[in-house]
Amino acid sequence: MSQLVITRNIGETAVAKLTHARLGFSHNKPDVSWTQQMLIANAKNAEALVCLLSDKMSAEVMDALPNLKLIANVAVGYDNIDVQAATERGIIVTNTPDVLTETTADLAFALLLAIARRIPESDSYMRAEKYTRFELFPDMLGMDVCGKTLGIVGMGRIGTAVARRGALGFSMPILYCGRSQNEAAAAEFGATFVSFNELLAKSDFVSVNVALTPETTHLFDINTFRKMKQTACLINTARGPVVKEADLVTALKTGLLRGAALDVFEFEPKMVAGLADIHDKLVVTPHIGSATIDTRHKMADIAVNNVLAYFAGERPLTMVNPEVFDNQ
Ligand code: GLV
Repeated sequence: MSQLVITRNIGETAVAKLTHARLGFSHNKPDVSWTQQMLIANAKNAEALVCLLSDKMSAEVMDALPNLKLIANVAVGYDNIDVQAATERGIIVTNTPDVLTETTADLAFALLLAIARRIPESDSYMRAEKYTRFELFPDMLGMDVCGKTLGIVGMGRIGTAVARRGALGFSMPILYCGRSQNEAAAAEFGATFVSFNELLAKSDFVSVNVALTPETTHLFDINTFRKMKQTACLINTARGPVVKEADLVTALKTGLLRGAALDVFEFEPKMVAGLADIHDKLVVTPHIGSATIDTRHKMADIAVNNVLAYFAGERPLTMVNPEVFDNQ
């Protein structure tokens, strides 16, 4: 059995690079979703694993893979991996930061514009031949974006890139909150650090850009929605469980919020009951934040480079728990 196992399709180019390096690997070529048992069976003797967000790398899975020394996640987020368990077992975890920052920020902004200007709804309206005459106050009246206040929850790499689009492209005042102040964002486009409650009270658009942690799970629930403007829209391109989806359904149905645009879901790939029935206040996309041809190839390339570095005894470039490498 191979020393390297690739759990899903990572693209021909990345696979060719591994072949060229003459590294023995096995590849889930049919790209079927592996259950936990299938993952364990297929990776039983693997020393390195290239995996996706959909592979749950729990302590239990790690214990069932006794030779595992490297998990190369093809994603910037790694909430699918129990990093502490990996560290305790001497397993290096790598991710794919930076290359997807601008691409994901593009999608966040596309969603913001789509919900504000009701683009998916307008598209359906046209196709249903409901557009019969030009009117000053048509069914599809939307919200202004330019000059409105944009609140960024989590001013990390992606949050900053979303904020920059708002500030420099759409003259939006930027409020942000998070664990620490971002001096560079303040200097570059005047972003103001505020409390979470102030951000909720003052923002016309709220973009979620935090990592999923116990503290951010259900950060947005019914109490949070009550603190937002009733004219505000929520954009989530981060992680689904940051938003309590059942409460979002209530908030949208009762008019606590103007709208929401979601690329990620609490129980991905499913939406909670009732969410899909909301058409006029909701835009949804299937976790495509980084899903452009170039970016997905770059992500796979980083994962493969990390694998190659590991097998060459070199330092993988994008380690989440570098202490494992440093202490070996
Ligand atoms: C996508 O959600 C990622 O973390 O890369």
